[in-house]
Amino acid sequence: MALLDKHKILETNATLLLVFSFLVVTIGGIVQIAPLFWLENTIEEVEGMRPYSPLELTGREIYIREGCYVCHSQMIRPMRDEVERYGHYSLAAESMYDHPFQWGSKRTGPDLARVGGRYSDEWHVDHLRDPQSVVPESVMPKYGFLENRMIEPKYIADLMATHAMVGVPYTDDMLENAAADFNVQIDPFGDYDGLLERYPGAQVRNFDGQPGISEADALIAYLQMLGTLVDFSTFTPLASR
Ligand code: HEC
Repeated sequence: MALLDKHKILETNATLLLVFSFLVVTIGGIVQIAPLFWLENTIEEVEGMRPYSPLELTGREIYIREGCYVCHSQMIRPMRDEVERYGHYSLAAESMYDHPFQWGSKRTGPDLARVGGRYSDEWHVDHLRDPQSVVPESVMPKYGFLENRMIEPKYIADLMATHAMVGVPYTDDMLENAAADFNVQIDPFGDYDGLLERYPGAQVRNFDGQPGISEADALIAYLQMLGTLVDFSTFTPLASR
């Protein structure tokens, strides 16, 4: 009997076909899913990724509170048009300290995964105050009030401890210095050596150009950090090493 004839037995018997389909799907499912239970980690580690500094983390909270993710994604897909517009496609490791992640599902505005360093702080201040002043056709709402809302690091250590509970490697040293690190990141004349040791590559300056620490400071510190932690001039994917 030819192979096709044997297959005919399956195709003409509904019950048998169901039983065998079920078997095939089960085996395929086990092969795909089972290894995940034995792998330590499905995220490839990448040099440069670190937990967010206290000020950046605060900016991220403001980003979430204001619903920026409703119009902006933070995930560059590995497709040519996206990579040419936004830069290297996003790596899983780049959002491994994000709880919750900010990948987004809608782009009314551009992807922000690599917006850090693309514009000056002054541009961000102007843009938040009045997006249409720098991009006349913009439909982005105004967020000028952020620069008038002063913030203190009262709960920042608690917030970081909460992130530590879900796996972000904040150390005791980081938690103890949370408030000091928060304050010193906008003070270029301060003693920020400890901050840079704990958060390599953290940018230290007065982001909104005004005295005091405002929500705009935190938000711009966060935006200017996005996509700058991994050095893509030296990055090679594990598979091609
Ligand atoms: C209603 C949708 C909407 C919301 C909400 C929104 N944006 Fe935008 N955003 C846009 C659009 C559209 C643009 C493109 C035009 C422009 O630059 O203003 C943009 C541009 C930007 C840019 C410049 C990106 C680039 O690569 O040129 C940044 C940065 C930005 N938004 C940050 C934010 C932040 C931070 C928030 C939350 C506080 C926010 N946006 C909320 C629609 C939105």
